[in-house]
Amino acid sequence: MKGKFITVEGPEGAGKTTVIKNIEMDLLRLGYDVLLTREPGGIDIAEKIRHIILNPSHTTMDSRTEALLYAAARRQHLIEKVLPALEDNKVVICDRFIDSSLAYQGYARGLGIDEVWSINQFAIGDMMPDCTLFFDINPAAGLMRIAQNEGREVNRLDLEGNSFHERVYEGYQQLIQRFPERIKVIDASRSIQDVEKQVLAVITGIINDA
Ligand code: TMP
Repeated sequence: MKGKFITVEGPEGAGKTTVIKNIEMDLLRLGYDVLLTREPGGIDIAEKIRHIILNPSHTTMDSRTEALLYAAARRQHLIEKVLPALEDNKVVICDRFIDSSLAYQGYARGLGIDEVWSINQFAIGDMMPDCTLFFDINPAAGLMRIAQNEGREVNRLDLEGNSFHERVYEGYQQLIQRFPERIKVIDASRSIQDVEKQVLAVITGIINDA
């Protein structure tokens, strides 16, 4: 694979989506060929699956169904969009990937990190990211931020209680310990400009193989 595959992770309200939109502009200005995409979604079939998973009225959805739907959306998005872009030598920045499933479904829903890992291996094979940025913010502070952001869509997982979001954060901490080489921690409690600077430094380092 010729391009670079970078994923961005974090609890709700960590600001990753806003920051990486700005980073995309910065990288384009610097002359890099960048593709910014997101999970679940990024292509028609996966956006439809996103709509099913995140619909707040789907209150009866079973946790394993949820994990399988995320994995299905991931597979289709990988095949249709991410792999062709990497073949094309692009820098692919993906807002969430497998670590979200490991933290949210594996750890916070209690399905087991290893169990969720195995269904995701079926979905993605060995296509792990070159680097993952974890936007580190205290989950309560993140939830406060999204409560203040009136324009944001409220999805089914946002409606979970604080203890669920605390567990998501703990799940990510376990993943950081498991994959210290791949996962870089970004202090997302700082100002947007400061977070952007940290992210741009890491990403240009990865692109240039520093
Ligand atoms: P977003 O708000 O960052 O677009 O993500 C949508 C929601 O889906 C968010 O609450 C995190 C959740 N999610 C999972 O639970 N598992 C996954 O595998 C992914 C990709 C997202």
